[in-house]
Amino acid sequence: MPVPQSRSRFVDPAIQEYASAHSTGPDDQQTRLQVETAERTGGAARMQIGTDQAVLMELIVRAMGATRALEVGTFTGYSGLAIARGLGPSGRLVCCDASDEWTAIAKRAWAEAGVTDRIELRLGPALETLRSLEGVEQFDFAFIDADKENYPAYYEEVVSRVRVGGLILLDNVLQGGRVIDPSATDMSVEAVRATNKAIASDARVRVVLLPIGDGVSFVQKVTNGSLGRPPGADSPAAVPRRT
Ligand SMILES: C[S@@+](CC[C@H](N)C(=O)[O-])C[C@H]1O[C@@H](n2cnc3c(N)ncnc32)[C@H](O)[C@@H]1O
Repeated sequence: MPVPQSRSRFVDPAIQEYASAHSTGPDDQQTRLQVETAERTGGAARMQIGTDQAVLMELIVRAMGATRALEVGTFTGYSGLAIARGLGPSGRLVCCDASDEWTAIAKRAWAEAGVTDRIELRLGPALETLRSLEGVEQFDFAFIDADKENYPAYYEEVVSRVRVGGLILLDNVLQGGRVIDPSATDMSVEAVRATNKAIASDARVRVVLLPIGDGVSFVQKVTNGSLGRPPGADSPAAVPRRT
């Protein structure tokens, strides 16, 4: 069964094809996971991020030198596998999901890829899991990709748990283009619109919303805001470097 290598909805298909042909493709383990997801989850397989987004996330995590990561919305483990690979053997990834059935597929794939020991899967409502995590500013990188209705709450819980200089990615922030359709008023779209708006005016972060995949926001925390905002404190130059 052919699996699309990109899930970009807003890029010219011919350009997308060229871009995919000149990007790193999935290896055997990733291809097996894509195929297994398509065969065992049916239409839900559309929730999986594309190969291009997975490669992008893996290389960002690696380039950051991130060692501690968080994922909200794991499904069958494709995005988690990308993050875990980027972290390297000493990294730790906390994955949050509510589905035993879907994450069973993830566990098999992670074992095959040799990354099981760097992943802690937390099953249950993600908001409860996030609130149970001890410690503030403990993560270098986070990926939010679970139920859209909870995006505003996920963002707030996650941003306080990411260190200054850390990165948060949010998936599906364009909702297939419905964010700009005034007649689209379902809870998912409204919640995503509210999240996008809140992030754009959040003085703790810098954000760029890119029209790749179904829209991905890249959010860098530049200050924790707890000490007010002294001059220059929220400029990228003020972000401390990790040693
Ligand atoms: C879009 S999929 C994640 C896709 C995954 N990141 C990937 O690329 O393969 C969303 C996931 O969020 C999970 N989910 C939905 N609502 C949830 C909740 N309230 N708490 C925890 N997980 C939830 C679903 O079980 C599903 O696996």
